[in-house]
Amino acid sequence: MSPKMGIQGDLGGLFIVYTSTPPFHSSLHLTHAYIHNSSMASQTHTLPPLPYAYDALEPVISKQIMELHHQKHHQTYINNLNAAISAQASAASSNNAPTLIALQQKLRFNGGGHINHSLFWNNLTPPGTPGNNIDSAPTLRKAIASRWGTQDTFVEAFNAELLNLQGSGWGWLVSKGGAKGQLDIVTTKDQDPVNGPNVPVFGVDMWEHAYYLQYLNNKADYVEGIRRIIHWAEAEKRYASGLESLLKL
Ligand SMILES: [Fe+2]
Repeated sequence: MSPKMGIQGDLGGLFIVYTSTPPFHSSLHLTHAYIHNSSMASQTHTLPPLPYAYDALEPVISKQIMELHHQKHHQTYINNLNAAISAQASAASSNNAPTLIALQQKLRFNGGGHINHSLFWNNLTPPGTPGNNIDSAPTLRKAIASRWGTQDTFVEAFNAELLNLQGSGWGWLVSKGGAKGQLDIVTTKDQDPVNGPNVPVFGVDMWEHAYYLQYLNNKADYVEGIRRIIHWAEAEKRYASGLESLLKL
């Protein structure tokens, strides 16, 4: 399976392409439209519900942060994405190339914000739930051991990479080249998504809005807390089978 995801270049069409055939396995489904090209904008993107209650990730992430992060921040990316898509359709219908070009960054930033946050909510789970146990990720655990030796060594490397990120961005465990690939730790700036064919196994939002109200400048404690609420069962699905259509058509 070789999924490709990202933000298309020429006319700013948001695209996710999967080059293999079903079956796919993933719990991630976005509620939105798939824009095949700039002339086909139809539906709008909507905020996907959280897979748990706003206070379910406490004490690691407070209810207040989750409410603001989901209802305000993620919603704003979606609103701006919808506006950019609408403007893109209008510009495309009038062959307005300068406007189409000017919309690229808005599409990339807000489309990436929608993708990244949708992945993030689903790769977290309340502490102590079954999917929170790494035993629910046997294939991934073996791959981590093969790459880093021990789980502790991996956590140390992952956390260090997150804490080295300058400015706003995301930290990811990725499977290179598609499902069941070599694992790697990468960061992306701002709201850039992980580009295909690499598969984002799980990601951590390192924007201040994700932690500052609770952790202030103590980023290390936030990162350590996230480690305790990883949804390993979801990570296993992404690693073993790739992502189903990330932007559900
Ligand atoms: Fe965020």
